[in-house]
Amino acid sequence: MTTGDIEFILEVRNLHVAYFSRARVASSAVVDVSFDVRPGEILGVLGESGSGKSTLATCLLRLLPANGEIQQGSILFEGRDLLQATPRELESIRGRRIALINQEPWVALHPTMRVGDQVGEVLAAHEYLDKKSRRERLRQVLEGLFPAETNRISFSYPHQLSGGQRQRVLIAQAIACGPSLVIADEPTASVDSATQREILTVFESLRRGFGVAIILITHNPSLLVGLADRVLVLYAGRVVEIGPTESVLSHSLHPYTQALLRCLPPPLCGANVVNRKTKLPVIAGDAPKLNTLSLGCRFEPRCEDRFEPCRTREPLPVSPADEHVVSCFKFGG
Ligand SMILES: Nc1ncnc2c1ncn2[C@@H]1O[C@H](COP(=O)(O)OP(=O)(O)O)[C@@H](O)[C@H]1O
Ligand code: SF4
Ligand SMILES: [Mg+2]
Repeated sequence: MTTGDIEFILEVRNLHVAYFSRARVASSAVVDVSFDVRPGEILGVLGESGSGKSTLATCLLRLLPANGEIQQGSILFEGRDLLQATPRELESIRGRRIALINQEPWVALHPTMRVGDQVGEVLAAHEYLDKKSRRERLRQVLEGLFPAETNRISFSYPHQLSGGQRQRVLIAQAIACGPSLVIADEPTASVDSATQREILTVFESLRRGFGVAIILITHNPSLLVGLADRVLVLYAGRVVEIGPTESVLSHSLHPYTQALLRCLPPPLCGANVVNRKTKLPVIAGDAPKLNTLSLGCRFEPRCEDRFEPCRTREPLPVSPADEHVVSCFKFGG
């Protein structure tokens, strides 16, 4: 199926996900989340640890752990509702049409298997190609990601590669079958900062070269600058702000997004001088516990701008600027 003629490849509507304790007490980890992804776009998903990013990523592929449950909503992928899909349909979508890149390349890669064989295995599992076509496809994928050293990487074992190269191998596995959507959950979490940009450049070239749409999940807004087309900000499982990257990161509206950005080192937060001894600010207060949430805005206990209505109910999303949507009483809601 080509995706060039459809407006959105992914349409998520009013998604609710909860985890259940042994005593069957539910904690909501994703609450009323709606968003779209266009073909070939990079959507950044931003939020502190515990905000529901990985829950969202895994539930899009219906890979929640046993105690997680999608309670409500719809996930339309290329026009098909994944919540209605049979296990067999899901199996054919995972890896072939939607790929998930894990956080930790050491865990995801087999230590005693050559890299080329590991990428080839993904092709063998999902594609119905004959041996010759499979070899050719493998060469194309590895060449795309390691143009200067395709052969050396192909015959290497994971421990012979750098962190950035291992992460590229995971990306090779993810795109081997030509998916239209890649979900990358904190893909640069385990590499040093010098390698981070290199990996992000790979995502940019995936989008340009293969037209792949990417959901790039991170707790670090600076990784999205110059890369993501739009940014979705999650707080305690809710979308608090979504819009074009420039609007959300340079003219953020939600007090939580603003607080996140204040925690960044310069230059994104606007200061000119980096003092290595100065501690970065952190958002005051703790992220809320899912089972102790009150009626009002989830950010209210930590919000410096809170006022009268904030404790009474959750603010609704409003759009004060083109394509820029925020859920905060300061803008209506
Ligand atoms: N298997 C699980 N059982 C119960 N609670 C979970 C489970 N996995 C995650 N959670 C809770 O769900 C919330 C969201 O977690 P997660 O999606 O991992 O956030 P993030 O990826 O943004 O760090 C957190 O409060 C976390 O403790
Ligand atoms: S609704 Fe109120 S408490 Fe919530 S972010 Fe806006 S101002 Fe702060
Ligand atoms: Mg996570």
